[in-house]
Amino acid sequence: MLVLGIETSCDETSAAIVRDGTRILSNIVASQASLHDLYGGVVPELASRRHVETLVPVVREALRKGGVGPGDLDGIAVTNGPGLIGALLVGLSFAKAFAYVRGIPFVGVNHLEGHLAAIGLEREEMPYPHVALLVSGGHTSLYRVEAFGEYRELGRTRDDAAGEAFDKVAKMLGLGYPGGAAIEQLATQGNPDAIRFPRPHRRSGDLHFSFSGLKTAVANHLASLGDGPGEQTVRHVCAGFQAAVVDVLVDKTVRAARENEVRDVLVAGGVAANGAIRAALEHGLAGIGVRVTAPSIALCTDNAAMIAAAGTRRIARGERAPLSLNAYSRLPLGSNVGRA
Ligand code: KG4
Ligand code: ZN
Repeated sequence: MLVLGIETSCDETSAAIVRDGTRILSNIVASQASLHDLYGGVVPELASRRHVETLVPVVREALRKGGVGPGDLDGIAVTNGPGLIGALLVGLSFAKAFAYVRGIPFVGVNHLEGHLAAIGLEREEMPYPHVALLVSGGHTSLYRVEAFGEYRELGRTRDDAAGEAFDKVAKMLGLGYPGGAAIEQLATQGNPDAIRFPRPHRRSGDLHFSFSGLKTAVANHLASLGDGPGEQTVRHVCAGFQAAVVDVLVDKTVRAARENEVRDVLVAGGVAANGAIRAALEHGLAGIGVRVTAPSIALCTDNAAMIAAAGTRRIARGERAPLSLNAYSRLPLGSNVGRA
C-alpha cells in the first residue's frame, strides 16, 4: 500500500511517501524555522501562509523523489490535530481535495500518534504493552500503550512542555528559535553542577510534570547576573538546565515503567532528539531491566513519514474519513473525535 503523508501542524511543511507503513520512499521536510526565528517563536498566521505557499511544491518533491505518480497512491494520511488550527487546515484541505480528485481514501492522524508510530519505519513493532514518553515542543506526557491505537495517559505536564522550556531558555540566552539543539550542543561544554536549578515536581509521587518553574529559575538566575552572562556562564546554564530536565524525565519514566510492569519504553517527539536525554533514559531504565527505544533523530522531529506510518495502519483497518473531517487544536491521543 502506497500512502502519501501530509504534516502541517506547526512550522514544518512536510510530505512523505511510505510503502506498507514501514518503508520510506521519500520524506520531505521544509522547515519554517528561519521565518519564525525573527520573532523568537512560531507566529501562527505566518505559519499558515507559508504552508499555503510551500505545500504543493513539497508534495511534488515527495512524489518525484519517491518515484511515484499521483495515480499510484492508495491513500492519504493527514495530521488533523493537535496543532495550530490555521496551519492544520492547510494540510487537511489539501488532503481532502487530493483524495477527492483521485478517488482514494484519506484518514486524519493524531500528530502524537504519528510521533509514536515513527519507530515503525525503522524496526519491527514495539512489544506491548509498553510505556511511551512523548516529549515535544507542545507536549510532555507518559502513556501506557496496550496496542496500536490504545493509549492510556499516565501523566502530563501541568504547564510548559519540555521542548517549550528548551525554546524559552534558548530565547533568554539569545540562541534563536527553536533552541533545543543549540542548548544540547552548548551543554556539552558546560558543567551541569556549576549552577543547580530546581527539579520541579520530581518528588510529587505522581507521573505529572512541570517545567515553568525551572524556566523561571533560569530567568531569575540570568537577571541576578546584572550585565548578562558571559560565554562560559551560558554553557553552564545550558548544562545545568538540561541536567534538571533530564533528572525529571528519567525519574518519572522509571516510575511509570515500574508501576506498569513493562519491559519496554518508547521515547518520541522532538526533544527525544536530545542525546543526553536518550542516554540518561537508557541508563536509568537499564537499572530496572527495561529497554529504551527511540526513533533516529530525523524521525523524532516533525515529519510526514510518521503521519503516513500511523495513517497506513488506520487505512488498513478500513478507517475512512469523511470530507467533513475537521481540524482540532486540541486532540487527545486515542480520542475518536473526527473519526468516521
Ligand atoms: O516534535 P517537534 O518537532 O514539534 C512538536 O510537535 O512540538 O518538537 C520540537 C521541539 C522544539 O521545542 C525543539 O526545541 C525540541 O523539540 N528539540 C530539542 C532538540 N531537538 C529538537 N530539544 C532538546 N534537544 C534537542 N536536540
Ligand atoms: Zn511534533
